[in-house]
Order: sequence, then C-alpha cells, then structure tokens
Amino acid sequence: MKTFEELESKVRSYVRDFPTVFTRATGHTVFDENGRRYIDFFAGAGVLNYGHNNPLLKARLIDYMSRDGIAHGLDMATEAKRDLLNTLNDVILAPRDMKYKVMFPGPTGTNSVESALKLARKITGRSMIIGFTNGFHGMTMGSLAVTGNSTKRGGAGIPLTNAFSMPFDGYLGEDVDTVDVLARYLDDRGSGMDLPAAVIVETVQGEGGINVASFDWLKRLEKLCRKHGMLMIVDDIQMGCGRTGPFFSFEPAGIKPDIICLSKAIGGFGLPLALTLFKPEYDKWTPGEHNGTFRGNNLAFVAATEALMAYWQDDGLEKAVQEKGEMVRLRLEQMADRFDGLVEGVRGRGLVQGMVFGAEGMASAVAHEAFSRGLIIETAGFTSNVLKVMPPLTICEEALVKGLDILEEAIAPVARREVTRMNARAAE
Ligand SMILES: Cc1ncc(COP(=O)(O)O)c(C=O)c1O
Repeated sequence: MKTFEELESKVRSYVRDFPTVFTRATGHTVFDENGRRYIDFFAGAGVLNYGHNNPLLKARLIDYMSRDGIAHGLDMATEAKRDLLNTLNDVILAPRDMKYKVMFPGPTGTNSVESALKLARKITGRSMIIGFTNGFHGMTMGSLAVTGNSTKRGGAGIPLTNAFSMPFDGYLGEDVDTVDVLARYLDDRGSGMDLPAAVIVETVQGEGGINVASFDWLKRLEKLCRKHGMLMIVDDIQMGCGRTGPFFSFEPAGIKPDIICLSKAIGGFGLPLALTLFKPEYDKWTPGEHNGTFRGNNLAFVAATEALMAYWQDDGLEKAVQEKGEMVRLRLEQMADRFDGLVEGVRGRGLVQGMVFGAEGMASAVAHEAFSRGLIIETAGFTSNVLKVMPPLTICEEALVKGLDILEEAIAPVARREVTRMNARAAE
C-alpha cells in the first residue's frame, strides 16, 4: 500500500476501507495480489450489476476492439452509438411506452445530474431546485447543491445556491407526510421558498442510508410537480438498471418523470457512461450548449448494448433480483432479530438492502470484520450507520448465502464488543 500512501492524494477513500491491492475479478469474486478471494457485496458502488468481467460483455468488447471499432467519438455518429440508441429504444423505452429523448451528457453520474438541472432551469425559467434530505447526486457544484451530506458540501468551498432541501419520505417520522410539508411550502407564498424549476429525487437513497420512498409518496410528489409547473427529475443513477428489480426503479410507482438520470450500471462492464433522458417536448437544447470531450465512450456503448440485449429482453433478471432480494431481506431480518437491541431495522428494495445499526461506528466495524473474512461490503448514511448489501445482480444463490454467512460471522464479535461496552457503561 506504500505507493498509494506516498503518491496518491489523501482524498482517496475506498482504499482505506478495503486496504489491499486488487488484481483480478470475475462475476461476484474479486482477488487481491496475495491470492485472497473476496465475495463482492459492493459491486463498484452499483456499477457492476452484471458482475466483474461479465463474459458476454467482455466477448463483445474484445470482438469490437479486434475489429478496430471506434473507441472515442465525441458526439459524432458511430455504429456503436446507433446500436445503443436503437437497443435502448427497442428493449427498454418502447415496451414501457416511454417516449424520451436521449442525451449523452458526459461520462459520469454527476454529468447527467448537471445536465438535468440545467435543462429544468432552461425549460421553466426558474432557478431553484428542490433536493431532499440525505439525497446524493454527485460532486460537481450543481449536484452538490442538491446533495445533503455536509462533508461533501463543505468540499465545494463556495456557497451552494439555488437549491432548497426538503424532508425525504419518512425523514420527520412515520406520522408526518413530507409531501404535505412540501405542498404547504409551495402553496403558501409566505413560506420563503421560490417556486422551483424541479425536484430531484432518488426512489431509494443509496449513499444517504438506503432510505426508501414509498410508491405512494412518489406518486403524490409527481402530482405536486404537475400542480406547480416544476419538473420531476428522478436520479436513477444508482437504483436504475435493475438494482431494485425493474429496469427503472420508479416503474412500480407508475410515475412518468420529466427527466431521468442514468449512469453507473448502464455502461454494463464498468466503463464510464451516463445518459439523461427527457420528454421530447423538453428538448430545447441548442447544439453544443452542453458539451464534453468524453461523451462518446464507444466501448461503453458496445457493452451497454450487449447488457440490454442479454438481460432485458425478458423479465428473467427482474424476477431473479426480486427473489434474491427477498432472500437477502429475510436473512438480514433474522440477523436483526439475533442482534436485537443493536440492529434497529432492515430496509431496501430488490438487491439493495441496508441493515441499520444503533451504535455509532458499529456498521463500519462490521464492514471491517467482514473484509478480513473475505467479504467486500460498504456502509451508507451520513454517520455510516447502515450496512449496505449490494451484490452484482447476477450473483448466484450459493455465493449470496456464503456472503450473508460471512456477514453474520462478522457481526458477532462486533456485537459482543458493543454489549461489553454497554454493560461497562451501565455499571459506571
Ligand atoms: C444517486 C446518485 N446520483 C449521482 C451520483 C454521482 O455519480 P458519479 O459519482 O458517477 O458522478 C451517484 C454516485 O454514487 C449516485 O449514487
């Protein structure tokens, strides 16, 4: 690790949680340079939905490269881009009766969010955007302004303006309907809130602690958007591409967002790709008004196309995610019962499930123990109090069970330490 400590900036983060040098990976398994093998319950923060080095995608990429296919294309027309646009339309959008224009905003999630915010402001002529408590949308200035985490916001070094944070579903407790709170702010012109251009929302807040919005909440949020002429942006960067089951996480809510942000798993193989989808009537961009050198990552187009062809022409993956998600959920609930008093609950949807710990530092300690036992798992939430189970969607049941076994083994010593600490404190 010396090279990283000496030469790489202190800004590095995941390497601190998983302090080893990784060398290769297939499916749900990652190897380090000492030959240790790890089960991956992290999936590149939601990028590797189809696993590491997925053989179908790899074969397509190798074939494309060996034919000297275009690798970089700005936003020029290429065969690979045409294939992706047609496949996205034929396999995903048309069967769902979704008419959306596709924009290539730049390679990462935050590029998609920035383009969505710009477009909403341009369309409505309003500047303010509503984000939600514990929302996470990326590290560039516009995205940070609608992100809740104060540490990330602090990195901006300038005031983050033209955004207003409102309570997410459940933020004010079970008895408070936070759509009603927002409705009151919007209806009452003495509230101090300017009429917003848009709301930007995650259906399940990934980084913010696996906070799940109910479908009813999302539906009523959409209705409020229509009433006040604000656009609804769904940031499906982490929860899209099947993470919660359906291709788009919002499908079961029956809503039609005005703008959809996609990234992470859309590239299939882990290659950077982001898309911004919007209703055709909002396509008010002028040529080049939003630009970027790396909008034409054709290798990502090739892998993305193959992923859509291989996994989304039928509902096999969606069903498998639901089944495996239920299995994970059940097992985590059993663990929550076993460690009653230490685990506050389990929440999530599909193959993103969080276990909420009460005591500070416990989830991180469990993640650390799990890593030493061969499981890669991260935490979520501002205080890192939620253990986040997010394996590749293609993981087999056997590995899923093995990973969950390791997790339970990892919780046990941390729980013992915590109980000892609590008893010592009670005896004081
Ligand atoms: C919901 C959501 N939006 C946006 C982003 C930012 O994506 P990127 O890190 O690729 O810029 C993330 C990253 O974790 C995310 O989870």
